[in-house]
Amino acid sequence: MAGLALFTCTSCATPARKWSGQCPVCNSWNTLVEIATVKTKTEVQTLSSVSVADGAPRPTGVDEFDRLFGGGLLPSSVTLLYGEPGAGKSTLLSQVALAAAARGTTVLLICAEESAAQVRLRTERLGTLPDKLLIIATTSLDESLLAAESSNADLVIVDSIQALRASDVAGPSGAINQLRTCAERLVALAKHRGPAVIIVGHVTKDGEVAGPRSLEHMVDTVVAFEGDRHQTLRIARAVKHRFGTTGEVGLFEMGATGLSTVDDPGQLLLDEHVVDVAGSALAIVLEGHRPLVTELQTLVVDAHGGSARRTASGVDHARISLLLAVLEARCGINLAGLDVFASVTGGLRATEPAVDLPLALALTAAVTERALPRGLAGFGEVGLAGELRRVRGAERRIAEAQRLGLRGVIVPATTPEMNTSITVLRAATLGEAIELVRTF
Ligand code: TYD
Ligand code: MG
Repeated sequence: MAGLALFTCTSCATPARKWSGQCPVCNSWNTLVEIATVKTKTEVQTLSSVSVADGAPRPTGVDEFDRLFGGGLLPSSVTLLYGEPGAGKSTLLSQVALAAAARGTTVLLICAEESAAQVRLRTERLGTLPDKLLIIATTSLDESLLAAESSNADLVIVDSIQALRASDVAGPSGAINQLRTCAERLVALAKHRGPAVIIVGHVTKDGEVAGPRSLEHMVDTVVAFEGDRHQTLRIARAVKHRFGTTGEVGLFEMGATGLSTVDDPGQLLLDEHVVDVAGSALAIVLEGHRPLVTELQTLVVDAHGGSARRTASGVDHARISLLLAVLEARCGINLAGLDVFASVTGGLRATEPAVDLPLALALTAAVTERALPRGLAGFGEVGLAGELRRVRGAERRIAEAQRLGLRGVIVPATTPEMNTSITVLRAATLGEAIELVRTF
């Protein structure tokens, strides 16, 4: 391994491979300084000669997890899995570790938050412990890296990066410079030694700036794990994926024996739907490529002279303000002086523009105290002129409504015609949609 020094001229910034008294470019004297000694381990090669033999994703065996990565984890890849405390990150990764080790992958769990005994107790409840499942309980980054090297693990799981500490860096664990250094060295471990690395990070709802999300650019894949301890449905969402498509989601249900696959998430969400309440509406959202029927709930109450509040959970705050403005200006429905609450059931996040139409219908129902017809779902974006705009994936959304046995769907008039047995109501404007649902 040859050492290679690199110099630069402090006067003209030209890089040079050799030191000399005078810069060969700007002729200044004594301006060359050494900026780096590069250990040449990495060689330049033609792109066509790059070996891709080990570039295939390796399934862990947890299908809903593997689908986020297009089939499995790539060797040398680094994934950041973040979510709120209690979301189920450790549970999910225990199950991933169990499944992968059972398939012959050597898995090393680096537990910086829990004792080895605690992890054993949990993991044992979730499945039979395979021999290839290794653990080290430590908060030391150095010990972790050594363990990863000496165990020759193919998959290294770090839970969590906030509890890990590099001894040569100032500051307590969880501090931003600690997080960065730990992530940097774990990335280097993956790139030089070859294991896939999964890093857990805790985030809070407020999404602090100096937290693990600031590591997103350093890793290959970022998975957001959503849902809280009060809800059964958990969603793992690939928000960044350097090796393929993003937006894929994995759906899980938290139960007594950990996370299990939700066979029919649509049915699960629909089962929780309260019918005949003025203010609720069914929306057909797309989670990745998967259509889901979910319930939007709204409530409007007199603000009693105080300044009207808009409270949203799972739906976009700004969209609500926009819809209230459109309802007032284009449909003559006035919600001034009213407190408005909106939420999505099942712990989902319905932030795509397609929820505009059902959300506006729910708000209209709430303020007019007239429940929407049963078994009707909708999707569509609402424009500032009150017009309805088509959204992607209309066919899949309508097919899902039909599969669940709903009575009808309401969609923007510009949605392409399709062959379906479910009643499709088409409206050009929000005002038209409000009229149409009254007579459905
Ligand atoms: P955990 O995986 O520890 O969350 P995180 O690592 O994201 O902080 O688990 C979160 C919750 O899941 C916890 O409240 C207990 C619950 N849980 C179950 O309901 N069933 C189970 O089998 C397990 C292991 C946990
Ligand atoms: Mg945990």
